Amino acid sequence: DTLEVKQQPLPIPPLLEDKNPDSNKAEFEITAQEGSMEFFDGTITKTRGYNGDFLGPVIRVRTGEEVSVKVKNELDESTTLHWHGLEVDGENDGGPHNEIKPGETWYPEFTIEQPAATLWYHPHQMHKTGKQVYEGMAGLFIIEDEVSDSLNIPKDYGVNDVPLVIQDRRFDKEGQFDYELGMKDSIVGFEGDTILVNGAVNPYLEVPQGMVRLRILNGSNGRIYNLEFSNKQAFYQIASDGGFLEESVKMNELTLGPGERAEILVDFSNLAKNETVELLDQGINFMSFVVSKDSDKEFIVPEKLTTIEKIEESKATTTRVFNFQGTGSSVSINGEQMDMDRIDEEVKLGATEIWEVGNFTGQTHPFHAHGAQFQILERDGNPPPANESGWKDTFLVAPGENVRVIATFKHKGIFMYHCHILEHEDAGMMGQFSVE
Ligand code: C2O
Ligand code: CU
Repeated sequence: DTLEVKQQPLPIPPLLEDKNPDSNKAEFEITAQEGSMEFFDGTITKTRGYNGDFLGPVIRVRTGEEVSVKVKNELDESTTLHWHGLEVDGENDGGPHNEIKPGETWYPEFTIEQPAATLWYHPHQMHKTGKQVYEGMAGLFIIEDEVSDSLNIPKDYGVNDVPLVIQDRRFDKEGQFDYELGMKDSIVGFEGDTILVNGAVNPYLEVPQGMVRLRILNGSNGRIYNLEFSNKQAFYQIASDGGFLEESVKMNELTLGPGERAEILVDFSNLAKNETVELLDQGINFMSFVVSKDSDKEFIVPEKLTTIEKIEESKATTTRVFNFQGTGSSVSINGEQMDMDRIDEEVKLGATEIWEVGNFTGQTHPFHAHGAQFQILERDGNPPPANESGWKDTFLVAPGENVRVIATFKHKGIFMYHCHILEHEDAGMMGQFSVE
């Protein structure tokens, strides 16, 4: 028999309780655990999640806040918990060196020193990242600040400020996750045939007849999305990976590689009550929006969102080159595969550097580095598109393309840079840099 599912409301991940009453401090508890989910009617799928069966709660903090987290591993294998996009020291970053053995607890501590943004967290266990994320281990990490407070944009979590974690999966005949990598998956990265949003197949979201803010994460292992609405309506991107853009960018289509995030504003006020609009990836519908209630607030898309200080190229003291190379099991960066005992690049603490990322393979790869947010200077000698002119921690590099980025490295420790196609990362398309 085939797997079937009735259309269900979009699950909204809960906000994780901050156990510290002091408003300048936050304390969270996260447990990596086994779970099970009914993705299809009457079929139980074995999963993993944080504090629940699949995915994890949304951690919400403020700039300036001192955060301590207790991360407990109740899985039967080692894991780590990496804060993707967060600027923290290497020992709190949750990369492959911060292994949490089964039954153990890890206690990262950090202060939030970056602007409002939609970041995320996920495991980073050597050779296991793809599998663990696939089984359900991922969650959003939201930072708020005075800028996000002051903007007149939707902020009602789960109502008009809604997270969308988009992930593709394959299920076997028994309805279990299928992560057997076929030839094609291990070459270009995993591609599933079923798209989940916040852990639901083909969900719908009831929205007000007005402006809605979507915080979109491409939490897929290997798939690049080209998102658009079925009625072809325009929307406005207001934030990229590391925070607000300076100005809203009107668009009809949004490309998001694995690991990338975008916040968009969508205005549903021109639609009739009960009208439905679908969200499409390359023409295929995977979730719908149903206009169900009056909007109790009027919003207009802010033109100016924030000010981003441009990092001057003249401040850069070093230029480094990172080239994606190889295919299948021989994927590499600069001809080297990840070695936990080898530091590939040494960055001086506080230095500003230009990184040039090239792609000598036949497919697009998303480049991601830990420990800093980047500004894109050029794509093949041209200024970046408007929606990539803010803070980025993950960016796509097409075959033959060269992307020049700049960052200031303000945190010490050991950090990773890698392809965010998780099958490539697990196969060794990753390296380490130290900041001292
Ligand atoms: Cu989102 Cu090094 O990873
Ligand atoms: Cu790759």
